[in-house]
Amino acid sequence: MDIKLAAIILAAGKGTRMCSPLPKVLHPVAGIPMIHKVIHACLGSGAEDIRLVVGFQSNLVKNVSNILPVNCYEQLNPLGTADAVKAAQIDSIEGLILIINGDHPLIQAQDLKSIIREFQESKSDLAVVTAEVKNPGSLGRIVRHHGELMAIVEAKDASQETLKIKEVNSGLYIVKSDVLKDLLPQVQNNNSQREYYLTDIITLGKEQEYKVSAIKSTPTVAFGVNTQEELARANRIIFRRKTKALMEQGVVIIDPKNTYVEEEVEIGPGSVIYPGAYLRGKTKSGAFCVFEPHCFVIDCHLGDSVEVRAGSYLEKSKLHNKVSVGPYARLRPETELGEESHIGNFVELKKVKFGKKSKAGHLTYLGDAEIGEDVNIGCGTITCNYAADRKKYKTKIGNRVFVGSDVQFVAPVEVGEGSIIASGTTVTEDVPAKALAIARAKQVNKENYATKFDVPEEQGE
Ligand code: UD1
Ligand code: MG
Repeated sequence: MDIKLAAIILAAGKGTRMCSPLPKVLHPVAGIPMIHKVIHACLGSGAEDIRLVVGFQSNLVKNVSNILPVNCYEQLNPLGTADAVKAAQIDSIEGLILIINGDHPLIQAQDLKSIIREFQESKSDLAVVTAEVKNPGSLGRIVRHHGELMAIVEAKDASQETLKIKEVNSGLYIVKSDVLKDLLPQVQNNNSQREYYLTDIITLGKEQEYKVSAIKSTPTVAFGVNTQEELARANRIIFRRKTKALMEQGVVIIDPKNTYVEEEVEIGPGSVIYPGAYLRGKTKSGAFCVFEPHCFVIDCHLGDSVEVRAGSYLEKSKLHNKVSVGPYARLRPETELGEESHIGNFVELKKVKFGKKSKAGHLTYLGDAEIGEDVNIGCGTITCNYAADRKKYKTKIGNRVFVGSDVQFVAPVEVGEGSIIASGTTVTEDVPAKALAIARAKQVNKENYATKFDVPEEQGE
C-alpha cells in the first residue's frame, strides 16, 4: 500500500454490560487481552500509526497495551464513539484512517487487509464495514433506500421496523483523514443516549456529497464483545480456530469443542490431545506427545513422545524426549526432566534438574535439587529445602543412587554416586559414593506383647 495508514482503536468505555471491575478490553480471549488481539490485527494490516483511545481505568489499559507499539490518548469523559475519535487528535494524521472498536477480538489482519483493498478499489471517501447477522440485538442497523446506504441507526434509537434489519454496523470504518477532519466536528448528540455517535458521520458524509459506501464483511468481523456471554463465545471461536489449525497440521484432537490451546502454542504432528487439556502461553511440544484429560501446561518445552497424564499441572518446565509425567503430578517453574525419566502420581517438583531415566513414581516432593541419571526416588521422599532461617538449600543426588521409601533429605546435602539410602532414613549428612545410608531407630520385637490387649470373647463383636 503506497498510502499512509493509521488506526484508531476505541477503548475508553467502561464496558458496563460486562458487569466486571476489569475494563472490558482487558478481558483475556483465549489467554490474550482483547485489546492485544485488536492491536495485532491493526499491525498486521500495515497500520504504522496506531492510536489507542483510553478512558476508564486508563492507567491499567495503558500498562497492558504499551508493550505493543501504540500511542495512547485519553478521553476524559465517555461522551460517545465520535468524541472518542476526537480524543485521538486526528489533526496530526495524514492518509487513511481505520477506526475500530477495541471490543472486536475476532478481527484478523487478513480481514482488515481485504477491507482496505475494497475501499481503495471503490474510490470511496468513507466506508462502514457491515455484516448480515441472525441476531442483530443491540448492534447499529444499516438503513438502505433502494439498496443505497442511507444511515446507521442505533438499536436504542430505532423503530420496530428498523430493528428488523439484519444488516449491522461492525463498528469498523475506513475514512480519508481530510474527510474525517471535516465531518467529525459536525457530529451532534441529539439521540436517546445524549452521546456523540460516530455512526452519524455516514449521514453527514452523504449530505456533503462525499462518496460513502458500505463494505460487506462477515458476522465474525462484526462480532463485538459487550457481555460475559459474548466473551465466552469469543473464547470458543478462537479456541476452535486453533484446534482446526492443529488438526490440519496432523495433531489428533479427540473432542475439539472441549480442548483449549492458546494461539502461540505449538504442538508436533502425531500428538494426541484429550478433552479438557488446557495448553497455554508459549508451550511448545515435539511430535507424538500425549496430553491426557485435564492437564494444564503453561510455557513448557516438550521434546518428542512426551506423555502428560491426566490432571497434571506443568509450569515453565522443560521435558526431554520420552518423558512421562502424572497422572496428578505438578511441575513448578525451572524444572528440567531428562530423557526417558518418569514422574508419577502426586509428585511435586520445583527447580529440579532430574537426570535421564530417573524415576519418582509416587507421593514425593523434590525442590531445589539436582538428581543424577538412573536414580530411583522411593515413594514418600521429601527434600527439606526450606530451613528455619527462611532460606532455600540444595539437595544433590548422584547417578544411580537408590533412594528407598519415606526418605527425607535435609538440605544442604549431597549424596554420592551409586549409593543406597535405606527406607525411612532422614539424611542430614553427606553420603559418600557407593555407601548405604541408614538412619532409623532399630526395631524391637516384644514376644507375645500383643496378647495383653486381647478382648475376652463374649465382649468381642
Ligand atoms: C457500537 C456502534 C454500533 C455497532 C457496534 C459494533 C456507536 C454509537 N455504535 O455500539 O453501531 O453496531 O459498536 O460493535 O458507535 N468507546 C469509547 N468512548 C466512548 C464510548 C465508547 O472509547 O465514549 C469505545 C468502547 O470502549 C468500545 C467501543 O468504543 O470499545 C464501542 O463502544 P460500545 O459501547 O461497545 O458500543 P456498542 O454499543 O457496541
Ligand atoms: Mg460494543
